[in-house]
Amino acid sequence: MKDAAVAKVELIKSRISSASAQRSFDGYIQYITFFGNSSAVICCFFEPYRALLERLLNRYAPEISVSTRENASIQSVAAAVENMLLAAHAFGYVGCWMTGLLIAKEDIEALVKPEGKWELIAMVALGHRREGKGAPQAPERRPRDETVSYFGE
Ligand SMILES: Cc1cc2nc3c(=O)[nH]c(=O)nc-3n(C[C@H](O)[C@H](O)[C@H](O)COP(=O)(O)O)c2cc1C
Repeated sequence: MKDAAVAKVELIKSRISSASAQRSFDGYIQYITFFGNSSAVICCFFEPYRALLERLLNRYAPEISVSTRENASIQSVAAAVENMLLAAHAFGYVGCWMTGLLIAKEDIEALVKPEGKWELIAMVALGHRREGKGAPQAPERRPRDETVSYFGE
């Protein structure tokens, strides 16, 4: 899987002509490929489905445009990913939610061979916390009043 991601990285690199774009991309590559060094990865797939509500709306109230099809599928997987990350943390592991490697989506799907219409949407890299010197520190969190808005009286 890492080879597939690295091959796509090399392809993209070979096409970038501007030096500044090359520098930006070079700085980004590790965020795409480092899952290859993790102890385990979980491939997360989603299957677009047509919820009952969407079928009913299509038929009886087409002016109300609600795409439950992919939204609900993607939100379901997102919730599952977050739960897996919390579970990994509870067991003392560290995890990283990753989508950059989707540049090699088809190649990775060919390796994992999901059945049916399942599509790769994210990967969770799992491993052990690096301790001591060089261990990454959690970034400072933005204050809650910058990230949460309350409406009402
Ligand atoms: C949808 C999504 C995709 C992400 N893709 C990547 C990725 O491809 N590579 C990466 O290094 N980090 C990626 N991240 C960011 C890491 O998962 C990031 O470290 C994490 O969201 C921050 O978690 P923290 O607040 O617990 O540190 C992604 C995050 C999200 C939510």
